Amino acid sequence: MKPIKVGLLGIGTVGSGTFNVLKRNQEEITRRAGRSIQITMVADLNTTRAKELTNGECEVVNDANLVVNNPEIDIVIELIGGYGIAKELVLKAIANGKHVVTANKALLATHGNEIFKAAQEKGVMVAFEAAVAGGIPIIKALREGLTANRIEWAAGIINGTTNFILSEMREKGLDFDVVLKEAQRLGYAEADPTFDIEGIDAAHKATIMSAIAFGIPVQFDKAYVEGITKLQATDIRYAEQLGYRIKLLGITRRTPHGIELRVHPTLIPAKRLIANVEGAMNAVLVQGDAVGATLYYGKGAGSEPTASAVIADLVDITRLATADPEHRVPHLAFQPNAMTDTPILPISEVTTSYYLRMQVADQPGVLADVTRILADSTISIDAMLQKEPAEGETETDIIMLTHQTQEKNVEAAIAKIEALPTVVGQVTKIRLEQLS
Ligand code: NDP
Ligand code: HSE
Repeated sequence: MKPIKVGLLGIGTVGSGTFNVLKRNQEEITRRAGRSIQITMVADLNTTRAKELTNGECEVVNDANLVVNNPEIDIVIELIGGYGIAKELVLKAIANGKHVVTANKALLATHGNEIFKAAQEKGVMVAFEAAVAGGIPIIKALREGLTANRIEWAAGIINGTTNFILSEMREKGLDFDVVLKEAQRLGYAEADPTFDIEGIDAAHKATIMSAIAFGIPVQFDKAYVEGITKLQATDIRYAEQLGYRIKLLGITRRTPHGIELRVHPTLIPAKRLIANVEGAMNAVLVQGDAVGATLYYGKGAGSEPTASAVIADLVDITRLATADPEHRVPHLAFQPNAMTDTPILPISEVTTSYYLRMQVADQPGVLADVTRILADSTISIDAMLQKEPAEGETETDIIMLTHQTQEKNVEAAIAKIEALPTVVGQVTKIRLEQLS
């Protein structure tokens, strides 16, 4: 059978890994795919570096349009990133009848509905295993392996940069900025690291998981997003004393009122497997009604781990290229005409538990005032930690863990607690999930 011809757009971190792994494992991959998969054309702005990386084995151009308009190319791999030129090129490739592989979660979380619709109409595939949790085959698992299940929730450590930062800060006591620079050097961080540390990258991935898990359109604009920049080392320490670790989690959950879609720092019991996922590693827990809890763990970023997912998509497309488009696995797991419009809940309607830290005057009655406010708001306390005031200090920290309650209840209670004359400054609130 004649080789399938691939055009690669962007030969940076993931692009170079894809080129190298495909070349190194060519023989084995051909045995699996049933056809040889060859990158015959590469587009990159830096053609000198691209020529060095590809060593004369394929044509190198600096205009990506030459790739997407080339009738010889069967599959286009988009590894440029962002929503500008990448969107334009992906839509052009689709319009030209080419299948597309992309690792671009930002693009799919924001423009996925338009892209999948265009692909559906043209009868081509858009594959994106690398877009969520890098090398972990979580898209395949959610879309195919768990297809018998009614998915109840998925929660994951889906940003390697922030997990690396949180781990290094906790284990080595290093400063945030130092660890961020190291994550960038290692190729984990996005071109704009704000996407990582402000939780945006994780929210892109959670948005994609949510669509596949529940059969809803991608709706990044409805996601609640909170990063790790405001997280204090004090809270990481107190959480440990209470038996919890703080992780940046992407969570999506089905509730009777709608779907939760949120990313924020989260306390999770230290005894859970997922709480022990350290460094740049990713892990996703998925709860299905039939299978129960399943856990997926691996490298969520980096050149070859991400290339592993990109090439898996290439092989999938190669195997299915001749199949009737109606009988392929749908892009978002559910048939396009069977998607639902279940609403995404605003964060005020989300129900979870909370870690609350407040600085209070060390005098009688303070604790009673705080607990009364919580009781009046029907918020029940699960655990409490009160620190001795430091030598010569008149103020101390009180830390409370609550049972589950709606976010709007806890917000109202916090406003009342902050108004107490004995409470200093603002109450720190971090959400807590048992993940049981
Ligand atoms: P890089 O920045 O390393 O690579 C992007 C490449 O695209 C660069 O070589 C860049 O050239 C080139 N490029 C930029 N504009 C154009 C253009 N108009 N035409 C052709 N080439 C262009 O990014 P990554 O490899 O890290 O990421 C690629 C995608 O994969 C992104 O969507 C990212 O979110 C995603 N991803 C990345 C992971 C990772 O671990 N890095 C993991 C999972 C997903 P130049 O450098 O000269 O600008
Ligand atoms: N910047 C991302 C991360 C890359 O740190 O996880 C993988 O998507």
